[in-house]
Amino acid sequence: MAKAKTIYFCQECGYESAKWQGQCPGCRQWNTFVEEVVERKATASAQKQLAAVRPVILADIEMKREERFSSGFPELDRVLGGGIVPASLVLVGGDPGIGKSTLLLQVCQKLSGQNISVLYISGEESLQQIKIRAQRIGAFTDSLSLLCETSLEQIDGVLRREKPQAVVIDSIQTMYSDNISSSPGSVSQVREATGAFMQLAKGLGITIFLVGHVTKEGVVAGPRVLEHMVDTVLYFEGDRHAAYRILRGVKNRFGSTNEIGVFEMREQGLAEVANPSEYMLSGKPKDATGSVVACSMEGTRPILLEVQALVCRTNFGIPRRTAAGTDTNRVNLLMAVLEKRLNLRLSECDAYVNIAGGIKMNEPALDLGIVLAIVSSYKERCIDEKTICFGEVGLSGEVRAVNMAKQRILEARKLGFTTCILPKVSVDPKMRTDGIALIGVDHVQEAVRRIL
Ligand code: TYD
Ligand code: MG
Repeated sequence: MAKAKTIYFCQECGYESAKWQGQCPGCRQWNTFVEEVVERKATASAQKQLAAVRPVILADIEMKREERFSSGFPELDRVLGGGIVPASLVLVGGDPGIGKSTLLLQVCQKLSGQNISVLYISGEESLQQIKIRAQRIGAFTDSLSLLCETSLEQIDGVLRREKPQAVVIDSIQTMYSDNISSSPGSVSQVREATGAFMQLAKGLGITIFLVGHVTKEGVVAGPRVLEHMVDTVLYFEGDRHAAYRILRGVKNRFGSTNEIGVFEMREQGLAEVANPSEYMLSGKPKDATGSVVACSMEGTRPILLEVQALVCRTNFGIPRRTAAGTDTNRVNLLMAVLEKRLNLRLSECDAYVNIAGGIKMNEPALDLGIVLAIVSSYKERCIDEKTICFGEVGLSGEVRAVNMAKQRILEARKLGFTTCILPKVSVDPKMRTDGIALIGVDHVQEAVRRIL
């Protein structure tokens, strides 16, 4: 086969160049040029085909009922927007060793249990290795088949012949096409492979799950190129040392993106965590200063978590501030607000803020929790363990409204909390809140006075 013509593209701004360049003349970024195959076949038959293409009026488009099917994991279905969409291309990204292969093999197990024909294609592990993993996970039915292959052309042939309903490609970085000279895992190979799988998914009506490893910068290799091409992007994340894993929707053409699913890595594979709040709060210490329960919304689901702070006198001139699980700049800002508005002498103190459980949360509604944890540690006074708080804190120390207050309150009540500190404007007088006392505050000073 003749070698295809290639061209170099900047991955940041799309600048085209015939030769490779270190710095992009368009956006001045370094090292962003990648080689890509371009095929410009403007033959007469293609011209004729083009003439046959006609736009359609919106009203003339027939609505087919979207027939989703369940992955067998309600948590995954939720992140996908209510189940798997047939003929969609789903990218599952994550750090190596986080559990992507395990998750997708379990999805294969569940799908094959529903008599859906599934093909698991691995370019990373041998059939024996997959079998060992499968034995840990449990029993499989016969509608799952396995293949160890990395050649795109071979896989194309197999899919067209076998026509399975769902396919897992583990991983996209190991796939290569003979048409491109660069090595597997390079951006042009990954891009070519993803494009080919997109066509297979749409053309044959197969749902394809792609596994993608992330780079040091935390994006699926081939900066952003993959994310543009696929229908849905999910990130599987979590602390490798902790057992829980979070599946986060980053892009979804068929549903909302901010949903998360929570899993726990066990000896026999991944198990769903139906009530993440309970799970996150399970290790909360009793009668400890600098600890308070806050509430963060992840999509439509409220998650209660413990915010911890440790404030102690600094031994050096410049105080240390560290935040784990949340934004350090936000913590600095909130400490400046406390210093100025509550006259706390925090500039003489080191402060460490931690969202317990190794989870990462950046919602502004956590501000009040961070503030109260810091004040609690500074004043050496405990906050009642049945109290929960949420609210955004502004630069004047005002407590600002947050969305979905009702869901947060209901979640707190469900878990047995009896007091809720929230922005005054978010208190709805019509809401029935038996069992939980709502304390609306409009300034951090008031919040501190009410519970410390
Ligand atoms: P894996 O799915 O191979 O990660 P990835 O494909 O994202 O690189 O997950 C590997 C980790 O999961 C490994 O450290 C072992 C652990 N594990 C369990 O704890 N229990 C299990 O049942 C399985 C299959 C794996
Ligand atoms: Mg793997």
